[in-house]
Amino acid sequence: MRCDYHDRGVCRSCTLLAIPHPDQVAAKQAAVAAVLASAAPGVRWLEPVSGPDHGFRNKAKLVAEGSVGEVSLGILGPDGRGVDLRECGLHDPAIATALPRLSAVIDDIGLIPYAVPTRRGELKHVVVTAAPTGELMIRFVLRSTHHEALLRSRLPRLLEAMPTTRVVSLNIQPKPAAILAGEREIVLTQQDSLRMPIGPVPLHLPPDAFFQTNTAVATALYAQARAWVVESAPRTVWDLYCGVGGFALHAAGPGRVVAGVEIAAGAIAAARRSAAELGLDPGLARFAAGDASAAYDLLPGPPDLVVVNPPRRGLDPGLVAWLDACPADTLVYSSCNPVTLARDLAGLATWRAREARLFDMFPHTDHHEVAVVCDRS
Ligand SMILES: C[S@@+](CC[C@H](N)C(=O)[O-])C[C@H]1O[C@@H](n2cnc3c(N)ncnc32)[C@H](O)[C@@H]1O
Repeated sequence: MRCDYHDRGVCRSCTLLAIPHPDQVAAKQAAVAAVLASAAPGVRWLEPVSGPDHGFRNKAKLVAEGSVGEVSLGILGPDGRGVDLRECGLHDPAIATALPRLSAVIDDIGLIPYAVPTRRGELKHVVVTAAPTGELMIRFVLRSTHHEALLRSRLPRLLEAMPTTRVVSLNIQPKPAAILAGEREIVLTQQDSLRMPIGPVPLHLPPDAFFQTNTAVATALYAQARAWVVESAPRTVWDLYCGVGGFALHAAGPGRVVAGVEIAAGAIAAARRSAAELGLDPGLARFAAGDASAAYDLLPGPPDLVVVNPPRRGLDPGLVAWLDACPADTLVYSSCNPVTLARDLAGLATWRAREARLFDMFPHTDHHEVAVVCDRS
């Protein structure tokens, strides 16, 4: 992928851009195999999965900067000034098409961009998410509710200018800190989540929930996890850190109980909605809001197979101890951080990593997802 921002030195987010994409994947494969060598001895590595090297990001998180009527959307440069990245080649084509229109709407409305040095202004970030259908969700991250009435009154114009937009929300982030979003979410549209069909599963994404960032590679990741589930034919599957239910819902099958736990209540509501749309018996698809470390108090069990997909920090030590002693005979661990994955696998002494696969979720960076299936040792 060629990138003018990279060539001009104004954006260095894609640290591996100068390396051909297949070579990036080969280097990541070698690196992750080395990190996991002692925690997963003898593991069989499947072919790495990669998708397109451009247009793959289903979410654009952009800093708003500049002045009223001339807002830039991008990142903050080292000097604290905005670097406009509306033409970033990583964005899904639906986002690329939307951004010039969205900028025009923001300028037209007269939103005041937040200035970090003076701590003045209102609009901090704009987050645009694209579904595989091309439908959009737009989230305005604001310092306060000062612009709420204005945005409500201009919503019809925004929807007219961007007719594939299904969800618009305001997130209120009052802290003068580099935090992407605050706790309060105000949804302006009737529809409060974006329909994100992935393979055969109609997922739903609320503005404040996590979603795998690369739709094509996420589709392959869920399909791989499903293949491991089908192979071990469990009666009960637990999906810990389930988000909007991607792993659990892909694991569903006749007579099988699938159950997920996740800290974000909105994501759990979305998972339940997807389960209902799939026609799953509510007794066979159960989702609970809560801490993954308390899954054994929250989910129907015991599990035969457990999927874990924690944040970068990995599993809590208590959960590692519980997994080590639990009755399940298959464990699928999907991780975006091979260092914490290696640490947790080393602690899971009763498990043996059998197969692993690299998913190149974040081309042009060192980051990647890796999924491992474990049997009892
Ligand atoms: C890497 S994401 C995985 C989401 C999901 N498995 C998917 O495929 O979209 C990690 C998820 O863990 C959730 N999370 C963070 N801490 C948690 C905790 N202590 N207990 C349960 N879920 C938690 C986050 O909200 C996030 O949805």
